Amino acid sequence: MGQQEQLKIGLITSGGDAPGMNAAIRAVVRTAVFHGIKVYGFKRGYEGLIHTDIMEMNNKSVSDIIYRGGTMLLTARCAEMMTPEGQEKAANVCKILNLDALIVIGGDGSLHGGLALTERGVNVIGLAGTIDLDLPCTDYTIGFDTAVNTVMDAITKIRDTSTSHERCSVVEVMGRNAGYIALWCGISGGAEEVLVPEDLTVDETSVIEQIIKNRSSGKNHNLIIVAEGRGSKGKTEEFAKTIEKATGIETRATILGHLQRGGSPTAVDRMHAAMMGHKAVETILKGERNKMVIYKNAKYEAIDLAEALAAKREYDPSYYEIMKILSV
Ligand code: F6P
Repeated sequence: MGQQEQLKIGLITSGGDAPGMNAAIRAVVRTAVFHGIKVYGFKRGYEGLIHTDIMEMNNKSVSDIIYRGGTMLLTARCAEMMTPEGQEKAANVCKILNLDALIVIGGDGSLHGGLALTERGVNVIGLAGTIDLDLPCTDYTIGFDTAVNTVMDAITKIRDTSTSHERCSVVEVMGRNAGYIALWCGISGGAEEVLVPEDLTVDETSVIEQIIKNRSSGKNHNLIIVAEGRGSKGKTEEFAKTIEKATGIETRATILGHLQRGGSPTAVDRMHAAMMGHKAVETILKGERNKMVIYKNAKYEAIDLAEALAAKREYDPSYYEIMKILSV
């Protein structure tokens, strides 16, 4: 494009929503407008991109959203984008609109969708937005802090009733493939056991043994956290029944579900969202292509998108070990 021509960018939020996505949208739009860049928002993530459900955005369109959970652009898990035909259609829309870049705010699946577009010539800038914190390349993903605080709040309330009734509480938190929410809430909520998808050695038998041990050493209530990946499809309720049967302790299961994805973003989420959104636009202005904005070692950086997504996520067992030491 000619040097004087106005830059044009597209923006989507995709996959599971996360508190702070709105703050990121605001940061992208306002930084872009500041630099005279035109921004097109697509509704429902890749669905809106493929079917050109589009809105031009300005400073006004993002006013009063910084404190809101969810995403004003709406989001979806787009099955069509998982097919080569869908990816081709999405890439064509970017080309027809002559977009200089597409900013994708989402988790692993959404960012892989972005990677597929880079292979079709689209310049994609990724931003980590997921409550799961399960992207290996970055120390933070937008939404995690709010979700953890929501769970903490719920656990604190469950503790009140669990203590009063001297019961065992089994609480299922989100995380199909990742146990970060479970482990963080295990440590900060004072749980005795945490079951995560990354470590299958902690199982029903070892948890029951621990409960019996803790009761015999004087504990009068128990808190067990189960990540969704170990508990979904009724397994958490079943587990509560198994505990009750094996120990004789009244046990209740609570599935926190989608309330973990909502709510006004915390200051931490708004801050990361603002900085990452700003960085994404600055990256485009520098003429860089196919990057992922990350937060690493207390700095915001833009690294190669393909490399960012190729990295392997390591499970750190020390979180579990520390939780065990502290819960005695
Ligand atoms: O966005 C991440 C996440 O909340 C996971 O923790 C959970 O497994 C999944 O999304 C639930 O997805 P859905 O809202 O599509 O049921």
